[in-house]
Amino acid sequence: MTRALIPGSFDPVTFGHLDVIERTARLFDEVLVAVVENPHKSTVFTVVERTEMLAEVTAHLPNLKVDEFDGLLVDYALDRGVTAIVKGLRAVSDFEYELQMAQLNYRLSGIETLFMPTTPEYSFLSSSLVREVARFGGDVSSMVPTPVAARLQARFGR
Ligand code: PNS
Repeated sequence: MTRALIPGSFDPVTFGHLDVIERTARLFDEVLVAVVENPHKSTVFTVVERTEMLAEVTAHLPNLKVDEFDGLLVDYALDRGVTAIVKGLRAVSDFEYELQMAQLNYRLSGIETLFMPTTPEYSFLSSSLVREVARFGGDVSSMVPTPVAARLQARFGR
């Protein structure tokens, strides 16, 4: 049985995340999407809200589970017998930091990280840009699933 772990902040989940999640779910028996709770990083949505949104927009994937974690990613991954950590790569600019994390996580745990290139139509997308557009009342309907757009609208009141 193979199990992929897709970790992230998901503040909020975008169509870019969903693309990587769906394609990973076709390659592994199970996928665990883990939402980080980081007390040192301020987020627009709480870890509970981010997890709820992910669960809602991935409900069509029977081999997927959404969870929360804090602390070191590799401790969480070792506890759950993960086959590989999967990370989406949008552009070369993502690669340097992701490579560093992959090598660090491998050194700490022996767990491999696999990179999944984002579908080109989503390569510009990031949660931070979505938050910025939503904050100023812009239309995010082409960037995030409908329930997420609704939560952003409720949060920013436009
Ligand atoms: O969506 P993000 O913010 O790029 O996700 C980053 C994440 C959650 C994958 C990374 O910050 C992480 O693994 N945090 C857990 C703490 C940890 O293990 N740090 C050491 C590896 S960098």
